[in-house]
Amino acid sequence: MREFWDSLYADEVYVYGTEPNVFLRAQRHRFQPGQEVLALADGEGRNGVWLAEQGLKVHAVDFSPVAQAKARRLAQSRGVDIRFEQADLLDWHWERARYDAIVAIFVQFVGAEQRPALFRAMKRALKPGGLLILQGYTRRQVKYGTGGPGSADNMYTEPMLREAFGDMEILHLCEHDDVISEGYKHHGMSALIDMVARSHPRSDLFTRWVLGQLPDRKGH
Ligand SMILES: C[S@@+](CC[C@H](N)C(=O)[O-])C[C@H]1O[C@@H](n2cnc3c(N)ncnc32)[C@H](O)[C@@H]1O
Repeated sequence: MREFWDSLYADEVYVYGTEPNVFLRAQRHRFQPGQEVLALADGEGRNGVWLAEQGLKVHAVDFSPVAQAKARRLAQSRGVDIRFEQADLLDWHWERARYDAIVAIFVQFVGAEQRPALFRAMKRALKPGGLLILQGYTRRQVKYGTGGPGSADNMYTEPMLREAFGDMEILHLCEHDDVISEGYKHHGMSALIDMVARSHPRSDLFTRWVLGQLPDRKGH
């Protein structure tokens, strides 16, 4: 699979453009300079670079070295520092309670089987009170064919996200069809879903534990 991404990114052109994702940019007010952010599967760096420009400490992870070479060039041209790491996120050491925010824009390389573990890892990596900012495609996107993996199994639904992130505070969750223009690979009418969720601050977790509202280790 890595070969697929490497060959896609081999083009000199930034296939998703060099401007940040529109939904992410609209969340600017949620960030504080100096916060630590994980830019998940950040590809050619358009989102990681923008986050660094907001004064955030960005850790950008992607498994494509070709993408990361382009992301490094983009960061250099825009005068920002980013910690890049080339890694397979399905086999990565996720640090616990490490990030103030995780940005997951079009991270849809897994289907139903691997998605729950990936979502759990994302949640664990957030500090108490940390934010998850996510945009992806819904199943209708397969018909639009204007971007994304082409398999409905990889797409999100609102109930899926509500269930997976139900133990966080969901601040925003919205499905919408809109025209996007983010490079030539994400272009045209698209079926999108946006989410902002906050992990509970430690004090909330303690209260919920005392009230018996948290699942035990077996998930009951
Ligand atoms: C649709 S692109 C999105 C890139 C970026 N988030 C953006 O919005 O511009 C998906 C990215 O996931 C990366 N990717 C796919 N599978 C991965 C894996 N197992 N581990 C790490 N990165 C992966 C690809 O290299 C690619 O850059």
